[in-house]
Amino acid sequence: MKQEHGAAHADPIHRIIDASLARAGGWLPFDRFMALALYAPQVGYYANAGRKFGTMPASGSDFVTAPELSPLFAQALSVQLGEALERTGTDEIWEFGAGSGALASQLLDALGDRVARYRIVDLSATLRERQQVRLAAHGGKVEWLSELPPTIEGVVIGNEVLDAMPVQLILRRQGSWFERGVIQVGERLQWEDRPTLLRPPIDIEGEHDYLTEIHVQGRAFVATLADRLERGAAFFIDYGFPEAEYFHPQRAMGTVMCHRGHQADADPLTDVGLKDITAHVDFTGIALAGQDAGLEVLGYTSQARFLLNLGLLELMASASVPERAMAARLIHEHEMGELFKVIGFAASGSWDAAGFAEGDRSHTL
Ligand SMILES: C[S@@+](CC[C@H](N)C(=O)[O-])C[C@H]1O[C@@H](n2cnc3c(N)ncnc32)[C@H](O)[C@@H]1O
Repeated sequence: MKQEHGAAHADPIHRIIDASLARAGGWLPFDRFMALALYAPQVGYYANAGRKFGTMPASGSDFVTAPELSPLFAQALSVQLGEALERTGTDEIWEFGAGSGALASQLLDALGDRVARYRIVDLSATLRERQQVRLAAHGGKVEWLSELPPTIEGVVIGNEVLDAMPVQLILRRQGSWFERGVIQVGERLQWEDRPTLLRPPIDIEGEHDYLTEIHVQGRAFVATLADRLERGAAFFIDYGFPEAEYFHPQRAMGTVMCHRGHQADADPLTDVGLKDITAHVDFTGIALAGQDAGLEVLGYTSQARFLLNLGLLELMASASVPERAMAARLIHEHEMGELFKVIGFAASGSWDAAGFAEGDRSHTL
C-alpha cells in the first residue's frame, strides 16, 4: 500500500528538486535539500499523505514515537506540564510538531481543566488535517497556528521536532573543511562537497576524515521561541547528546539517518519524499540558543530518568501486562531510555522541575 502511494509522489518531488537545483546554479546545500525532501508542499515526506507514525510496518508506518508507543508517556509528561502551568501561572499548552495528534489528545485528557487552550504549530498541512480529526472531541480548546504570534504565554512541548529540522552537513577531508551539497548527474542525485568556512562548534581532535552536522535551524527556532515566550516554560524531547559527545572524534560519520517501514538507512538521496530524514540533536547548541535569548535551563536528563522522576513506574504498576511492556520501551537503555533526552527551559526565573529532580545532567551540556 505504502509503496504504491509513494511511487505516485516520486516524480513531482524530483521535479521540485530539479527546479531548485536549477535556481541554485546546480548545487543545493544539504539543509535546503532536506527541507524540500521533508516539507515541499504536497510531496515532501511530512507534507504527503503517507501514514508515518505507528508501531508496526504492516500498518504502513515508518517509525514509532513515544506517544504512539504508550499513553503512559503523556500521562507522566502531564505531571511535568501541569507543574509548569502552575509554577508559571499560565493555562495554555503549545505543541510544536504534533504528528498524528496522539500526544495532544492524551495530554488534553490528562490535564483536563488546567488547560484553557491547546495550540498546535506544525509545518505539515496533511498532519494538521489528521490532528483535526483526532482532536475533534476536544472541540474549541484546540487551535492551529501557521505562524508564531509576537508573544506567547504558556508551556511549550515538542517531542521529536528538533530532529526533523534541516541541518547543514560539513566534512573534514585531508585536513580541509567542505560543505556537502546535492547535484544531479543524469537521473541520479549525488553528493558534491565545496570548500567552506563553516566549522563544528568545537574543534574535532585528530586529522582523520570527519562528517558532521550544524544545526542552524534548530538553534534559530529555539532563539525565536525564546524571544516570544514572555511567561511560561518549554520542554523538548529528542534523541541526541551534549556537544562533547556529539562532536566526539569517533563519531566520524555524523548522525543523519533515514527511516522507512521501520528500517533505518543512511542515504537521504534515494527514495526522496518517501522516507523520513533526521539528525540527532546537539543539546548544548539548543541550551546555548535558549540561554542567549534569555531562557534559563531548568534541567537536562535522559528520557528514562525524566519519566521515572515523574512517576512512570507507579503508572506502569496499574497498567495491563501488554501496556507495561510497551511503556518499558520508553525507559529501557537499549530502546528510548538513554538515547532520548529532555531539556527544559523557564522563561523568567528558574524553579525546581519534578522531571529533573534526580539525575539532572545540565552540567554535561
Ligand atoms: C518526527 S515528527 C514527530 C511528531 C510527534 N511529535 C510525535 O512525537 O509523534 C516531527 C514533526 O515536527 C513537525 N515540524 C518540523 N519542523 C517544525 C517546525 N519548525 N515547526 C513546527 N513543526 C515542525 C513535522 O511536521 C512533524 O509533525
